[in-house]
Amino acid sequence: MSFLTIQDVTYKYQGKEPVINKVNWSINQGEFHCLLGKSGCGKTTLLKLAAGLLHSDEGTILLKGTEVVKPSEQCGFVFQSPTLLEWKTVLDNVLLPVALKRRVTAEDRRNALCLLELVGLASEFNRYPTQLSGGQQSRVAIARALIQKPSMLFLDEPFAALDAITREELQDDLLKLCQLHDTTVLFITHDISEAVYLSDRIAVMAEGKIVNNTEVQLPKPRTMKMRYESYFNELCFKVRQVMGGVHT
Ligand SMILES: Nc1ncnc2c1ncn2[C@@H]1O[C@H](COP(=O)(O)OP(=O)(O)OP(=O)(O)O)[C@@H](O)[C@H]1O
Ligand SMILES: [Mg+2]
Repeated sequence: MSFLTIQDVTYKYQGKEPVINKVNWSINQGEFHCLLGKSGCGKTTLLKLAAGLLHSDEGTILLKGTEVVKPSEQCGFVFQSPTLLEWKTVLDNVLLPVALKRRVTAEDRRNALCLLELVGLASEFNRYPTQLSGGQQSRVAIARALIQKPSMLFLDEPFAALDAITREELQDDLLKLCQLHDTTVLFITHDISEAVYLSDRIAVMAEGKIVNNTEVQLPKPRTMKMRYESYFNELCFKVRQVMGGVHT
């Protein structure tokens, strides 16, 4: 069943040419889709439309069959920059989505600490964002997105500021968590191998259109060995060609 449906969606920023041009895309429940494309092609704009943070000029966006008109509580977000509140501790930043809705309980704190442990920041819970590295701030934003156990996650280059090894660890953690909670995911990245490792399907965008949508036929759970096998590398090459304008 389609969990997120984007139908004929067009969007332009004031007085400009369409940045998103008649896009159709659907993501089934529990699937992990990556969106790749050159800088400026419209990825973040499409994610904001899908998440209800922008409203399309034409077309429809449905979440579980209901039209998206504003951000849903079922959705978690990780933006291109971590957007943490500087005057709140790491723990309070993770708890923010809960605190905006109701009183924070001891169980909420336990959950937040578990998530911080998962992203390798348990001992930093009482520090402030300015005392963290860029990569650590990104990880706090990921923990914050997961605190409400969202059924849909929107992530915009969440691992861009991380070193290669931490990135691989977080990719595995994210896959594990999403599998466990049957989370549906739209994930933007510039890294082709990250897209192949994470995805059930990869969409490639160019100039406001989705120009290719490819299935990744790798078994789950994913393993490090897969990254070095021929299917993985052939698929990376195929996606690279599509991004270079070669349509297969
Ligand atoms: N608030 C805005 N007002 C006007 N134009 C905008 C605005 N935000 C983005 N744009 C333009 O829309 C286009 C798509 O931007 P978008 O941020 O969606 O690209 P992107 O694919 O996410 O790029 P990147 O990979 O660099 O993050 C770009 O040409 C950008 O200049
Ligand atoms: Mg972007």
